[in-house]
Amino acid sequence: MQIIKTLKALRATRSLLDGSLGLVPTMGALHAGHTSLVDLSKAQCNYTAVSIFINPKQFNDTSDLSSYPRNIEADLNLLEEMGVDLVWLPSLEEVYPPNYQTFVEVRDLSLPLEGAARTGHFTGVATIVAKLLIVFQPQRAYFGRKDAQQLAVVNQLAFDLALPVTIIGCPTIR
Ligand code: PAF
Repeated sequence: MQIIKTLKALRATRSLLDGSLGLVPTMGALHAGHTSLVDLSKAQCNYTAVSIFINPKQFNDTSDLSSYPRNIEADLNLLEEMGVDLVWLPSLEEVYPPNYQTFVEVRDLSLPLEGAARTGHFTGVATIVAKLLIVFQPQRAYFGRKDAQQLAVVNQLAFDLALPVTIIGCPTIR
């Protein structure tokens, strides 16, 4: 399993993959829900990549961000055991360089429900997911159906931005 930190190294590794790539975006602290997404990607794609990045832009409450569970070592052991091909573990600056200014806003779908309770949450999610889909260029990307509004936002952004990816919504186990 390759563990990659920089965007440059990710691009170089991606360009060498011959065959389909499945991406499982995560914020780490992996559980059975994530492993079921990895299993499905492994069954459907030649290669499976997992990103682990706690995205500050989707937290509107800084205490939620600081208390978000972090367990990188256990996550990497689990992914290695599962036979994942590559893991991207970028730093904050790698994803959001100084003077970062660009956001993806999926307007109507982001407003109700969780979006109403957590202002800006889905713009943060849409921004990081769009960036991950652009840099990984996966054929398929896997998301839990339990986060139904997130899945709807992701489907909409992939369609609106004409990203060449199939979004797969999976039954989630927690
Ligand atoms: O569902 C999550 O864990 C996150 O919202 C995601 C999709 C990895 C984006 O940070």
